[in-house]
Amino acid sequence: MYLQRRNRILRQTPAIRAMVAETILTPNDFIVPLFIDEGQGVETEIASMPGYFRRSLDGTVREVRELWSLGIKCILLFVKSKDEFKDNTGKEAWNPDGLMQRSIRAIKDAVPEMLVMTDVALDPYSSYGHDGIVENGEIVNDPTVEALIRMSLSHAAAGADWVAPSDMMDGRIGAIRKALEENNYTRTGIMAYSAKYASCFYGPFRDALDSAPGFGDKKTYQMDPANRLEAVKEAVMDVEEGADIVMVKPALPYLDIIREVKNAVHVPVSAYNISGEYALIKAAAKMGWINEEKAILETLTSIKRAGADLIATYFAKDAVKLLNK
Ligand code: PBG
Repeated sequence: MYLQRRNRILRQTPAIRAMVAETILTPNDFIVPLFIDEGQGVETEIASMPGYFRRSLDGTVREVRELWSLGIKCILLFVKSKDEFKDNTGKEAWNPDGLMQRSIRAIKDAVPEMLVMTDVALDPYSSYGHDGIVENGEIVNDPTVEALIRMSLSHAAAGADWVAPSDMMDGRIGAIRKALEENNYTRTGIMAYSAKYASCFYGPFRDALDSAPGFGDKKTYQMDPANRLEAVKEAVMDVEEGADIVMVKPALPYLDIIREVKNAVHVPVSAYNISGEYALIKAAAKMGWINEEKAILETLTSIKRAGADLIATYFAKDAVKLLNK
């Protein structure tokens, strides 16, 4: 048989495959989400996220040191707030001595070069489990943005390198950027959760932080999974308002959106390989139905190939170890 082109030539050996690989994962790609709890010596495995833990600050700092030693450069902090601190204003979110603010200071003290990003949204502090302030059963936009500004400023004051608003209120990126400027936080980055969908895959995360909505759902602020153009609109607007990085979330069911956003903006794009995506792989691996290590690397590669410059993922540490093998 005569063939002018034999595509398999480029797949013949591990050497040539390595040389022509288009997508290479490195530790620089990853953002590691960390769940922080009050107390000392607390380390609780999250039931729906086997192998992933919520830790008190002492253990969190140890973990951050290990992540840095593995070459990971960025973490994203979430705290589990005590029930008694939750109310409808979310005011614990900007308590200068709150768990988040103490955590930022302790981590920056211990590993100053680690980039610390913080989640900005009211849900861990809301008695309703919503990302915003509730009035007459509605999540009200503008008062929530005021709260998010205070929260962002308190994170910046504690030393956060980046704030990451995950609330999907309108106008919050511009308002936060303006407030940072006015208060002379000119080195603080904003990673906007720009296209965040109302996804069922957040379930395990809400277990981790005990932050499930107390009534209704999040569909009046998070996006409809049916929509594509709306994601581009959100990302473009967030860039105009001052976002340094825009995010698509979840990642796997939205790979097309990652590519679409990547093609539309000229800032780095991140994707959040969320808790439910983690749980799927863990569960199937536990059943013996897939090879966990291969599934992790294939999944993360697919997200990067789709266009993500950065990936927030609970698999970061596993992935770095696998890449070093
Ligand atoms: C809340 C927030 C959520 C996640 C990150 N920030 C959940 C939600 O919107 O209910 C989900 C992350 C994950 O599932 O891994 N502002």
